[in-house]
Amino acid sequence: MVQTIKYSIFKSGSKINKKYLIKDMNNDLLEDINKKEVSSKVYFQTDSICIYNDDFLKIDYIKDNSIDLIVTSPPYNVDIHYNAYNDKISYYDYLIFTRKWLAKCFRLAKNDGRFCLNIPLDKNKGGQQSVYADITTIAKQVGWKYHSTIIWNEQNISRRTAWGSWLSARAPYVIAPVEVILVLYKKYWRKENFGKSDITKEEFVEWTNGVWTFSGESRTKVGHPAPFPIELPRRCIKLFSYVGDTILDPFLGSGSTLIASVKTDRKGIGIEIDKNYCKIAKQRLIREAGINQLNFNKLIIKNING
Ligand SMILES: C[S@@+](CC[C@H](N)C(=O)[O-])C[C@H]1O[C@@H](n2cnc3c(N)ncnc32)[C@H](O)[C@@H]1O
Repeated sequence: MVQTIKYSIFKSGSKINKKYLIKDMNNDLLEDINKKEVSSKVYFQTDSICIYNDDFLKIDYIKDNSIDLIVTSPPYNVDIHYNAYNDKISYYDYLIFTRKWLAKCFRLAKNDGRFCLNIPLDKNKGGQQSVYADITTIAKQVGWKYHSTIIWNEQNISRRTAWGSWLSARAPYVIAPVEVILVLYKKYWRKENFGKSDITKEEFVEWTNGVWTFSGESRTKVGHPAPFPIELPRRCIKLFSYVGDTILDPFLGSGSTLIASVKTDRKGIGIEIDKNYCKIAKQRLIREAGINQLNFNKLIIKNING
């Protein structure tokens, strides 16, 4: 039996055809006019999620105005040793990079699309910088509208390592052991359609208080140098999107956003430049989101990278 599935989230036009043909349930491969071009970037895909091993700044296969909610945490430029990304560039270059991906996210979001951006409040490594203030300004310059800011109290006291001048007013450091989640939207804050919300009364009351307290994720446990806990995207997804919405994480890392998307019955797209992290994300989806081989056989569209 030949089935045709239309993926409205993928770009139509000369390069990519949005019609994908599944030959039958036992055949993993899809057919489309330029399948090689896109499929070489697909690391892993089921009927509801897709991981692309690609550079977010270069992709052209996600359709503009197609994403309901973006949840992400970009590189912070604090010299974290990622495999495929240099996390120690000048602050000026970092802000240029930031402008590019913020503008790209803006294009991909629907008019009532939202953006939960996990970033540091500020940084002192390599010189003090007002990261949150600067990124907020750039986000607004490229078109995003400001909605609110959630303070994430990570309770991470290990950050208290630099005192500047100990017990002296000469040059003390003040460090807030928190991060923020900047909440933005494209054009309209009120969603254009009514959809199904799955948030409980307790969650709604607790999470609309803009100070969230839960621990960070263990790097060693996850195998990634800067993961956020699944609780972060889970809250953003349940509070700001409907069941069945499409969630995008342009800096997927170890896959936390996709795990939260699967667990909350949303569709998810993740872009990650590093193949090793794509592999970790896939393994975590299997382990932590309950996607198993049985489901693969029923759901899988493409899984070219083992
Ligand atoms: C802060 S980490 C994200 C961690 C993620 N939230 C998690 O829970 O694992 C940022 C990620 O962005 C990736 N990255 C950097 N530049 C990228 C680019 N241009 N396109 C896609 N991914 C990129 C890095 O490899 C890194 O894994």
